[in-house]
Amino acid sequence: MIKKTDFLVIGSGIAGLSYALKVAQFGKVTIITKKKIQKTNTALAQGGVASVFSKIDSFGLHIKDTLDAGDGLCNKDVATMVVKDGPKRIKELVKQGANFNKHGSGEYDFSLGQEGGHSAKRIVYAHDLTGKEIEDTLVENVENNKNITILEDHIAINLVTFSSSIRSGLIVTQHENICCGAYVLDNKTGKVETFYAGITLLATGGSSKVYLYTSNPDIATGDGIAMAYRAGASVANLEFVQFHPTCLYHPEAKNFLISEAVRGEGAVLIDHKGRRFMEKYSPDKELACRDVVARAIDNELKKTGAGAVFLDISHKDPGFIKKRFPNIYSKCLEYGIDMTKDPIPVVPAAHYMCGGVATDLNGKTDVQRLYAVGETACTGFHGANRLASNSLLEALVYSHRAYQSSVEEFQSIGNKVNITLDLWDETDTTDSDEAIVVSHNWDEIRRLMWNYVGIVRSDKRLQRALRRIQNIQKEINAYYWDFKVTFDLIELRNLATVAELIIKSALMRKESRGLHYNIEYPEKDDQNWLKQTILKKSF
Ligand code: SIN
Repeated sequence: MIKKTDFLVIGSGIAGLSYALKVAQFGKVTIITKKKIQKTNTALAQGGVASVFSKIDSFGLHIKDTLDAGDGLCNKDVATMVVKDGPKRIKELVKQGANFNKHGSGEYDFSLGQEGGHSAKRIVYAHDLTGKEIEDTLVENVENNKNITILEDHIAINLVTFSSSIRSGLIVTQHENICCGAYVLDNKTGKVETFYAGITLLATGGSSKVYLYTSNPDIATGDGIAMAYRAGASVANLEFVQFHPTCLYHPEAKNFLISEAVRGEGAVLIDHKGRRFMEKYSPDKELACRDVVARAIDNELKKTGAGAVFLDISHKDPGFIKKRFPNIYSKCLEYGIDMTKDPIPVVPAAHYMCGGVATDLNGKTDVQRLYAVGETACTGFHGANRLASNSLLEALVYSHRAYQSSVEEFQSIGNKVNITLDLWDETDTTDSDEAIVVSHNWDEIRRLMWNYVGIVRSDKRLQRALRRIQNIQKEINAYYWDFKVTFDLIELRNLATVAELIIKSALMRKESRGLHYNIEYPEKDDQNWLKQTILKKSF
């Protein structure tokens, strides 16, 4: 059976929910989300949303910091648009009910934090649980909206597309690839449903689960990028994977981030002998951009053979630390670390994908009626390295742009497109009796990416990684066609696709820039590489 909806939103983080709330004024919205609605990367964001609210800050400075971090690859028009639109979108969140820390009684007298690469205090935050505050606010609004249906425990398998030929007389002048929904597995019933949608939005978040060590939750498997690529959309800049310098290093702590805001409040990095080392790497020391800090830590760890470096804020007043970072304080305490007294052991881990599905200024991809917003997208805002706390900002601004553009597109479609969708076909497939294949490949991909496609790369290691991933891909594909799809298999297939795309993009870029560092090409090459790496499937 085909299920119809006007707007199909895949993902339930800040991008998907902000968009859903706005388009719901114009039609029926269906949100599909892999687990419970709150289980998103957004809900884990600690730092905040970067935006200009201080009198001693300016749009010009925020744009400059964004472009500097992006190392030559940001689109200046995009950066200008996002930075200038930011305050409006944050005020909208406040109207929807979000509470950010304030220093005065005015509605927008926000307390502002500092993070690496920012030349002014401009991080709007809610203690160290900013993402949770935003997610909870949006979820409450979405749950009370009669035009929105939320389907939890549903995972999209593939986008449904068809090709339409544009003719001039007898000659076909152009083929248009059009998205009209998605095949979706209901994980509770095991049934695959076909969704027909006027407009489809990919807001599936990150892909850092492709690495063994990551700050991301298990859901971050790059589903949007993989589905868009399979459907024929261009993907861009996937070699630029951001490693967060400071994830908690503890055998029982899975994916716990120590926010950059801790360094913003004066924490210093020290090695296992208690020596500060950041001054060797940058005059900005601990507040240098993330690529610089992550590479410095990586270098120190390789040089000393130590398992971790340490983040020390114990010189600050304990009362201040507990009030400013209640979540980080109590989490560290669970693992026996009192951050008011002890340095916190930290290591870098995969955190954010700066590349993604290529979009225009409205979040539109090059597949008709398909939009991508948030970490799934590559808008040109982050360039080769994202500035801290610019991601929630980008998601807010682009979900608004995508809403405006897609409502217009939706209204222009009307009932003109009348197509017959192919239903999901399970003929000749059986239930798998070899789940071990899935778990083995899952583990192998993540180790392979960490060891060969990490913070410091070489062509030799990338080539080796490519050969391995292509073999794994063959195995996964055979498995995919022979057996009934399962939640784990869908995620694994996406993870493998994204891994291959990251490796191919990294091999294409014959220079080092921003987050991509290749020891065989250690310098920047502006003459040849001041451009995006684009990959597009040929059919
Ligand atoms: C952090 O709190 O350090 C993460 C913020 C971000 O990734 O922008």
